[in-house]
Amino acid sequence: QQVIYFSRHGESEFNVIGRIGGDALLSPRGRVYAQALAKHVQALNLPGLQVWTSTLQRTKATAVGIPAPQQHLHELDEIYSGDCESLTYEELQERFPRELALRDRDKLKYRYPQGESYLDVMQRLVPVLQQLETETNVLSVSHQAVLRCVLGYFLESPIEEIPYIHVPLHTIIKVTLKGYKYTMETVKMPI
Ligand code: F6P
Repeated sequence: QQVIYFSRHGESEFNVIGRIGGDALLSPRGRVYAQALAKHVQALNLPGLQVWTSTLQRTKATAVGIPAPQQHLHELDEIYSGDCESLTYEELQERFPRELALRDRDKLKYRYPQGESYLDVMQRLVPVLQQLETETNVLSVSHQAVLRCVLGYFLESPIEEIPYIHVPLHTIIKVTLKGYKYTMETVKMPI
């Protein structure tokens, strides 16, 4: 049976203050999640476990305690918000109100100035998704927008809904192939 695990990184210093993008480190709570994740995954005793993270510090730090081969893939990096990197949504509203309005109107196709759209993220994920479909017992530690795209793909969500899929922090997502369909289960860590 094919099983793939997913998790967002633990809470980052940017999550705490509501800044988007960037390459922040984990917050103290985020570090607690990293330990809980490692403990949970070790207890599962998954044969041939591999860990795929993004290249950003927060996903690497989340996975560092998991004793398994690790790969860091650019394709799993968070949506790049270009000129809007490291701003809060309030700062965005002040400095780029038009951009935020355009994004609200069409979150799927909206591309940040000098950055990416959800559609761009989906496109760069294609090779990783194709690879994932041939693997089992991979744990992929990535980011909110990227995991929306990945889960939307496996669960065959309507494309317009993908930018709004709920992917909470500190939650392990298990995707299992049953017949021809993938199903999802979640385990929320008490942190
Ligand atoms: O806020 C965390 C974060 O991962 C940001 O880095 C990213 O820009 C955002 O979530 C994506 O979510 P949304 O597309 O809803 O803004």
